[in-house]
Amino acid sequence: MSPSFYLTTPIYYVNDVPHIGHSYTTLACDVLARYKRARGFDVFFLTGTDEHGQKVEKAALAQGETPLQLADRVMMRFQNLWEKLGITHDDFIRTSQERHKQGVQSLFKGLLDKGDIYLGEYEDWYCTPCETFWTETQLMNGCCPDCGRATEKLKEESYFFRMSSYQEPLLAHIEAHPEFIQPTSRRNEILSFIREGLRDLSISRTSFSWGIPVPGNEKHVIYVWFDALSNYITALGYPHDPQGRYQKFWPVDVHVIGKDILRFHAIYWPTFLLAAGIPLPKKVFAHGWWTVEGKKMSKSLRNVVEPNMLIDKYGVDAIRYFLLREVPFGLDGDFSHSGLIHRINSDLANDLGNLVSRSSAMVNKYCGGVLPAPAADRDGDEAFKRAFAEAVPRIDGHLSDLSFNKALQVIWELVNKANKYIDETQPWALAKREEQRERLGSVLYNLMESIRLIALLVAPFMPATGSRMLAIVGQNPQDVTLSGRDGWGGLKPGTQIDKAAPLFPRIEGEANSGN
Ligand code: ME8
Repeated sequence: MSPSFYLTTPIYYVNDVPHIGHSYTTLACDVLARYKRARGFDVFFLTGTDEHGQKVEKAALAQGETPLQLADRVMMRFQNLWEKLGITHDDFIRTSQERHKQGVQSLFKGLLDKGDIYLGEYEDWYCTPCETFWTETQLMNGCCPDCGRATEKLKEESYFFRMSSYQEPLLAHIEAHPEFIQPTSRRNEILSFIREGLRDLSISRTSFSWGIPVPGNEKHVIYVWFDALSNYITALGYPHDPQGRYQKFWPVDVHVIGKDILRFHAIYWPTFLLAAGIPLPKKVFAHGWWTVEGKKMSKSLRNVVEPNMLIDKYGVDAIRYFLLREVPFGLDGDFSHSGLIHRINSDLANDLGNLVSRSSAMVNKYCGGVLPAPAADRDGDEAFKRAFAEAVPRIDGHLSDLSFNKALQVIWELVNKANKYIDETQPWALAKREEQRERLGSVLYNLMESIRLIALLVAPFMPATGSRMLAIVGQNPQDVTLSGRDGWGGLKPGTQIDKAAPLFPRIEGEANSGN
């Protein structure tokens, strides 16, 4: 049986439209999902939408529609964008779905029966945009410490989760599992936050109704974060597990999130799970924050980097490449048009595109497009092949650490080595001398084989490009399996090699214009 791999994105709020930040997280997960599938894992990749809460209720009312109508509309925008970005999720969960509601109520009821949820009264400072209560000491000048907006004092009957009881077990877990919260700097933040003391958490509301009712007390709806976080198990079929998915895929291998919601994933969620006796996630990875042209992403700036527009203008693979190459996952980054154009021209058009078009053109020119057989290794051949053999385990390691940029760097080392191999072996000079025919065959074979391997390695990042490259070297463009095909020598001599059209046309004249 193949090993399983379960990964999730956050479920996105439907009171905003999808933007480059959401695309980033979802893309990163898609690359990992595709890579793991290519490596033979049985992957379950989950994304979805977080549809309940006061903000959605208010926004719907303001627009004269029901919350569900609003959610239906915005959810479609997410789904359409994911299709356009080539996202290969295995399931899309909506918190308004019945399967989710049942799972959340069952989790809630279990904790209620156990005494880990109790009814009390709540009075604290509430930030409506963030749907979060803050204590007096947490406020910054009376405002929400997260978004800086005004808070209001609210008092209401509320169910509480005994989070305080799980402070010590959670600390012990985090200390015993250094890989649980990544990157390490974030882990330290979480540790010091927990050490300051965990209070019991209010987990129901009576102030609005668009949510999942508390079982047995319908006046209350379940607090959005309890509702939302549970998606990671309800999507698997918790608690009934009709398809055996929960059994197969839980605990999750990695929750990929932005650093803004780490506290919910590294404190709230694990304490709920500890209370319910459910195993904890293996890893929570909080990536960094994107700004745009050096500024925080405001509504107007978002239009400048609207994902559909970027894809139409630059192509989906270029966007996928740029987002994951430009910034180490875990650090903050800046999205600029000039940065994007620079990457497209230098890494994609120049390095990768030229390798493929130069090499395939030579097989066509010198061998009529028929792949020659390699003869004995000469000169730098062995080192060239060795570089490929060594690269695969390095990429494996980097992707296990979600170091997408490092994995791409390793692939580009190969691209550069292949370009250098052309310069050093000079096939055009070999072609002029009949006695070098055999050597020319070896060189061209090695180049085509390097393209086959690079195609398989880039395919998770740039699926269309990977497929085009495979087609050029006469391989099934749909078969991007890496397992068992990552060794040297997969191409059969005699294979028909296409003369490639440029993979990435250069973008002229805009590099410094910033638009
Ligand atoms: O928080 N840079 O949903 P959300 C990088 N529903 N990533 C960004 C980003 C930026 N500027 N802006 C957004 C919620 N993101 C909850 C989650 S999960 C159980 C519930 C990404 O729509 C990043 O992944 O506000 C961030 O964590 C997420 O979008 C927040 O999405």
